[in-house]
Amino acid sequence: MAILFACFATLVGHSIALNNGVGKVPPMGYDTFNAYGCDYNASSVLAQGEAMKRTGLVDAGYNIFILDDCYALKERNATGYMVADPKKFPNGIPALSKQMNDLGISLAAYGDNGYYTCAGYPGSYGHEMKDLETWHSWGMSYLKYDNCYIPADNITQENMFGRYTRMSDAIAAFAAKIHRPPFIFYLCEWGWQQPWIWGRRISQGWRIDGDIKPYWSAIASIIDQASFQYWASDFYGRNDMDILEVGNTGQGTPPGNLTYEESKTHFTAWALMKSPLIIGTDLTNATQETIDILGNRDLIKINQDPHVGESISPFRWGVNPDYVSNPDHPAEYWSGNSSYGVVFMIINSQNTEQTMFFNLTESWAIRAGRQYSVYDMWTHTYEGVAVWNLTFSLPPHGVRALLLNDAGPQPANLDGTCAFYYQCSV
Ligand SMILES: *[C@@H]1O[C@H](CO)[C@@H](O)[C@H](O)[C@H]1NC(C)=O
Ligand SMILES: *[C@@H]1O[C@H](CO)[C@@H](O)[C@H](O)[C@H]1NC(C)=O
Ligand SMILES: *[C@@H]1O[C@H](CO)[C@@H](O)[C@H](O)[C@H]1NC(C)=O
Ligand SMILES: *[C@@H]1O[C@H](CO)[C@@H](O)[C@H](O)[C@H]1NC(C)=O
Ligand SMILES: *[C@@H]1O[C@H](CO)[C@@H](O)[C@H](O)[C@H]1NC(C)=O
Ligand SMILES: *[C@@H]1O[C@H](CO)[C@@H](O)[C@H](O)[C@H]1NC(C)=O
Ligand SMILES: *[C@@H]1O[C@H](CO)[C@@H](O)[C@H](O)[C@H]1NC(C)=O
Ligand SMILES: *[C@@H]1O[C@H](CO)[C@@H](O)[C@H](O)[C@H]1NC(C)=O
Repeated sequence: MAILFACFATLVGHSIALNNGVGKVPPMGYDTFNAYGCDYNASSVLAQGEAMKRTGLVDAGYNIFILDDCYALKERNATGYMVADPKKFPNGIPALSKQMNDLGISLAAYGDNGYYTCAGYPGSYGHEMKDLETWHSWGMSYLKYDNCYIPADNITQENMFGRYTRMSDAIAAFAAKIHRPPFIFYLCEWGWQQPWIWGRRISQGWRIDGDIKPYWSAIASIIDQASFQYWASDFYGRNDMDILEVGNTGQGTPPGNLTYEESKTHFTAWALMKSPLIIGTDLTNATQETIDILGNRDLIKINQDPHVGESISPFRWGVNPDYVSNPDHPAEYWSGNSSYGVVFMIINSQNTEQTMFFNLTESWAIRAGRQYSVYDMWTHTYEGVAVWNLTFSLPPHGVRALLLNDAGPQPANLDGTCAFYYQCSV
């Protein structure tokens, strides 16, 4: 009877979550794709690792380095294993892995759910265990898994969920075989077929959209999408809003053009929505502004909160009607809980400076009839005590990220009427 009950409890409590002990909080690190595309090698990887260390970003928590597409030869070897491109990695990947470990960074893998990766390198379909062996031998324990060149339906006889379950199952089997924790597994299927609904069953995270771009329109549209999917993020499974574009202003073709304010808004949203924080810019000559944005410890602390895994959520859309999608004007007023206080993120989605106003009690996490100390997570200063509401102006596409903490009952001279509309009596 006791055994039956235990089984039943296990099924009810955990049947839809993977929760295999790894990947509790969002990963932080670097991915080669936004800065390099295919054009990287051991020396560029090491240069980025050294820059991460030198600029304090390793100490801030960035500790994985994803070798994205293009690290292998196009052909597997005669026994079906991938071979690292010897031109790009003249000393082999294990040697690079060791050098990165010495900087406090672990290499991480990129693979693909089909016959080929997106750039035409070997895909892992049918080679799942062999590729896990290879990545493990390269010191990797994290996998970003892409979705190009996937086999036809008559071959897999699986839908999107089933196709991705193949690698999730292989990861579990491989962990059991080598008696090590399973690989952390991130789905990169661009938000097809609502992975925010099923991704948690088989992985620690799932991209919610196509590839990010270094322009405000792309950032605003991802925030708009996340405003309807924030609920899916928590410990051990989360929306992946894609690699950061912070630092890519003036870089790339066409050149990125995020302003300083837009870059801060981008980083704030990714951090507070508990997205992975994955750097995608050349750090060897990044500006101090870029390093300061990526290194904002107040925001990183909330992203990595060991006690609260949830994303912030919108309480008012602002320009756009509530609960209506608008990629140009995503929700502007957001809040949520953290171990360090109640978090607010206020965004000006307009192209001109705006006055932003909200009543504290519009947020579910605020107690009515109380006053709150206000800490600004960009200026890193306390800004006094707020009673009832806050008003401030924001530059175009600017952001404020605030932490509010209870500072006792509201002043006695204020009346006791109802914050939440009516039905209060004194
Ligand atoms: C690695 O890439 C850099 C920058 O593109 C280049 O200067 C260097 O020669 C390359 N090294 C090797 C071993 O290919
Ligand atoms: C293929 O690569 C694997 C892993 O590096 C190695 O163990 C195996 O011997 C290679 N096979 C051949 C035929 O070279
Ligand atoms: C799947 O369909 C294709 C045609 O679209 C056909 O050529 C192939 O033989 C089929 N494969 C299987 C395993 O049925
Ligand atoms: C930023 O760059 C994108 C892509 O080139 C372009 O469409 C957009 O108009 C630019 N925005 C500004 C404000 O220049
Ligand atoms: C860094 O250097 C590269 C190569 O010289 C250059 O293309 C890029 O614009 C520089 N980046 C910054 C942020 O200055
Ligand atoms: C916010 O999170 C903290 C830390 O887990 C917890 O102590 C507190 O009760 C939470 N507040 C609310 C309103 O859930
Ligand atoms: C803020 O509170 C005031 C006073 O209760 C109320 O008149 C106003 O409608 C509220 N505004 C919002 C946006 O909730
Ligand atoms: C904002 O709160 C103050 C009390 O701190 C109150 O006097 C004022 O009327 C409120 N403003 C609005 C617009 O509700």
